[in-house]
Amino acid sequence: MASRKLLLLPGDGIGPEAMAEVRKLIDFMNAQMSAGFETEEGLVGGCAYDAHGQSISEADMAKAMAADAVLFGAVGGPKWDAVPYEVRPEAGLLRLRKDMELFANLRPAICYPALAQSSSLKPEVVEGLDILIIRELTGGVYFGEPKEIIDLGNGQKRGIDTQVYDPFEIGRIAGVAFELARTRRNEVCSMEKRNVMKSGVLWNEVVTATHKARYSDVKLTHMLADAGGMQLVRWPKQFDVIVTDNLFGDMLSDVAAMLTGSLGMLPSASLGAPDAKTGSRKALYEPVHGSAPDIAGQGIANPIAMIASFAMCLRYSFNMVEEADRLERAISAVLDDGLRTADIMSDGMTQVGTTQMGDAILARFKAA
Ligand code: IPM
Ligand code: MG
Repeated sequence: MASRKLLLLPGDGIGPEAMAEVRKLIDFMNAQMSAGFETEEGLVGGCAYDAHGQSISEADMAKAMAADAVLFGAVGGPKWDAVPYEVRPEAGLLRLRKDMELFANLRPAICYPALAQSSSLKPEVVEGLDILIIRELTGGVYFGEPKEIIDLGNGQKRGIDTQVYDPFEIGRIAGVAFELARTRRNEVCSMEKRNVMKSGVLWNEVVTATHKARYSDVKLTHMLADAGGMQLVRWPKQFDVIVTDNLFGDMLSDVAAMLTGSLGMLPSASLGAPDAKTGSRKALYEPVHGSAPDIAGQGIANPIAMIASFAMCLRYSFNMVEEADRLERAISAVLDDGLRTADIMSDGMTQVGTTQMGDAILARFKAA
């Protein structure tokens, strides 16, 4: 039996509740499908700060580096608003991304047929939506130096962040986008702000050159990122794959998430480069939603984004394509059955809590 090393980092807020539903799936797959998952657990975010005074301990970082894949819940909450910036909960997630070199963040926005009514947009605008946002995750303004608040000495301060991209960073994320487009509708739209940002000019040049050199079979378009945001809410179905930088990708993926009905629906995968010898890659899977402290602990959170993130883990880290398809079909079937958590509830549907939603998905997965 293959051994598959999984590190679970449930984190804060609704993270642990959502992760508990994935654990049920892992237990079932080990017991009934000889999946051979070996799970370990660690702390990240506010809970890690409470335990160790750090947003992730060195020991848990080492576990993450050694795992075949990491499943991440969510971090943060008002309890840690006043902790030092360096050890704020989000720093743990950023360190995982940076140290594991997870430069490619895949954020699919799929509108399940049953949820077209839940979107704030008209059903015909979102019905059948299937787009993939590829966000660059280890560069740009989130990591660029200098990054500081300086004292100008005259009673004034200045906050500085630096947007910086090197060609290799742009070329490799563009490559991921073109490769994935080939498995879909074969179209990539690259978004930047070349009209005001030098890094945008370079982004545009490198994406264009990468396309010309290796991917000219893929249809490539360019859009300014602000116009891209507008087009995403005007007519999102015009897009197949969107590739963009860390900051724009953060914003545009939240916009895309809402098209699908709720932030509680969106999974994501953060991937490193494939190892030249083994072909395996470091990977972390996380829901796009945050820790939702306002509803944490009430048993009402939507576990679908977390479960769908596990489906992406099966697909991208373990090549368990059939099982991933089956899990995604189980999610769709449960929605077709009319089950809804509070965030996607609508008239005539059956409102359920986190564990009921998880149990229903597991039951459909078992039966498939
Ligand atoms: C995301 C989140 C994170 C980010 C935060 C929690 C650091 O917004 O994954 O989209 O900014 O990348
Ligand atoms: Mg975000």
